[in-house]
Amino acid sequence: MNGEAAIGVFDSGVGGLTVVKELAWLMPEEHYIYFGDTARAPYGSRPPSQILAFMRQILDFFADRQVKMAVFACNTMTALGLEAARHHYPFPLVGMNPGARVALNVTRNKHIGVIATQAAIASGKHGQALTNLDPGVTVFPQACPKFVPCIERGILDGGPLEAAAQEYLMPLREERVDTLILGCTHYPLISPLIRRVMGPEVKLVDPACETALDARRCLIKHGLLAGSGRGSVRLCFSGGLDRAELLAETVIGDRLAEFEYVDLQDY
Ligand code: SIN
Repeated sequence: MNGEAAIGVFDSGVGGLTVVKELAWLMPEEHYIYFGDTARAPYGSRPPSQILAFMRQILDFFADRQVKMAVFACNTMTALGLEAARHHYPFPLVGMNPGARVALNVTRNKHIGVIATQAAIASGKHGQALTNLDPGVTVFPQACPKFVPCIERGILDGGPLEAAAQEYLMPLREERVDTLILGCTHYPLISPLIRRVMGPEVKLVDPACETALDARRCLIKHGLLAGSGRGSVRLCFSGGLDRAELLAETVIGDRLAEFEYVDLQDY
């Protein structure tokens, strides 16, 4: 394993690009290979056994590409599979940070909302992370299964998405939540809508920045930081390449370098 190898970053679809953006901002000299399973997204409403099988395929793909570390840019796979996967790969794994520390720093009334996929909410991991740090906090978890299918189709506002946001977020407003953790990497893509429905006084916490810091700490610990020089970003998707390219341009702009279609059936 050497510092010049790439970092693998992955998600069920396009959401993890929000994490690539933070990683590339923090560590521009690194090389990144992103895999988004756009042919099979969303994952969050699938049975856990299937999500874990998909996760193993993705990690096998990264092993084949000889990455030096893999970052789970997906809360659902972090919640279900990170711990079990740790001992099966020759490279270190970093999961999505739950955002608990940041949320506890900004909340004033200790009413913290968490929005995520059904599978991530059912795992209870965000709530555990919050109450482990502060048993006095009240957590309001809310699954939002209609968000990811819209975002994957490139719908980031209006119509059915607006109706879904009202349905999911109004109960959190009624509970006087003053801080909301975006517990799915897709959700920062619709943060203007979420902010509009929640109101300007509610703090939105996107854990992508903390996750990038965790990844950097992990590279330092393993002596794997890249030297100076210009990094690169390679974006691999399993389907809908045109749509994924368009969204990638919106999220990470001129940092994007190359696109590749990858069929996971081979793994
Ligand atoms: C999904 O595919 O449902 C989203 C996965 C995630 O980011 O948690």
